[in-house]
Amino acid sequence: MGTGKKVTVVGAGFYGSTTAQRLAEYDIFDTVVLTDIVEGKPEGLALDMNQSRPIEGFETKVVGATTGPNGEGYEAIAGSDVVVVTAGLPRKPGMSRMDLLEVNAKIVRQVSENVARYAPDAVVIVVSNPLDEMTALAQKVTGFPYPRVMGQAGMLDTARFTNNVAEALAVPVATVQTLTLGSHGDTMVPVPSRCTVNGKPLADLLPADKVEELVERTRNGGAEVVALLKTGSAYYAPSAAAARMARAVIEDSGAVMPVCAWVDGQYGISGVYLGVEAEIGAAGVRRVVETALTGSERAALGEAAEAVRAKQADVADL
Ligand code: LAC
Repeated sequence: MGTGKKVTVVGAGFYGSTTAQRLAEYDIFDTVVLTDIVEGKPEGLALDMNQSRPIEGFETKVVGATTGPNGEGYEAIAGSDVVVVTAGLPRKPGMSRMDLLEVNAKIVRQVSENVARYAPDAVVIVVSNPLDEMTALAQKVTGFPYPRVMGQAGMLDTARFTNNVAEALAVPVATVQTLTLGSHGDTMVPVPSRCTVNGKPLADLLPADKVEELVERTRNGGAEVVALLKTGSAYYAPSAAAARMARAVIEDSGAVMPVCAWVDGQYGISGVYLGVEAEIGAAGVRRVVETALTGSERAALGEAAEAVRAKQADVADL
């Protein structure tokens, strides 16, 4: 009684392996493929995950595949409906995501070439950093239509913002609504005007300086985890976000999520990958959903777009 659905996670580091585990535990795929360049690592993790099936009660089969420099092993991803690209290096303490640009561009380029070759119909979800630039690169290299390539960041940044607000007010996370747009980096745009707690505007519950503190903590949410871990970056919240995006694609759910999507005219911005809300379905981004912003939020989104645009142009040549 298979579902006929297949998803691939490229990269079996913590981000990739926790994403694969979450996807397998949803029990909505026939197969979750996990790949890595470290020989035996994806196969070993796949075996381990399969052995958890009787305990967790899911039937999805996890398949591990070691890949080589000339595309060896990539036949395992053939027929994937979704490919989540986690390949690349994580930050070290003190690094910005942008410090990873050159090294990760080479990795994402190579992965994208193989995805285009072996899974030409897949929806691609990029999570490698710097996120907005790597998403743009993956689209360019695969040549896939823009809606079929998106990046994961907004779900994560929004979850961090929500968690920060819930902790500050000591309320359940389920009562809090927040939103972040823009880039997954310095020009992230948390949107306080869209934040509510039990339907009440955040601005009515906390003084402006406290809201600004939560906004700043959200902007530094990834770096805060990196500084504590000292090796590697966050993966529980990031993998939860990536897995939910993949699920929305597979279920063709139409869920509206903050994602990194190709923006073409919305908010008066054109021709750039940027964090916006979008309706997600089987073919990726169905449409970008515009939300009402204050003047300063709109200006910040415009600045984020120009910052990302400049870097995306650099990346095209890497
Ligand atoms: C973070 C990384 C994954 O924000 O970008 O934790």
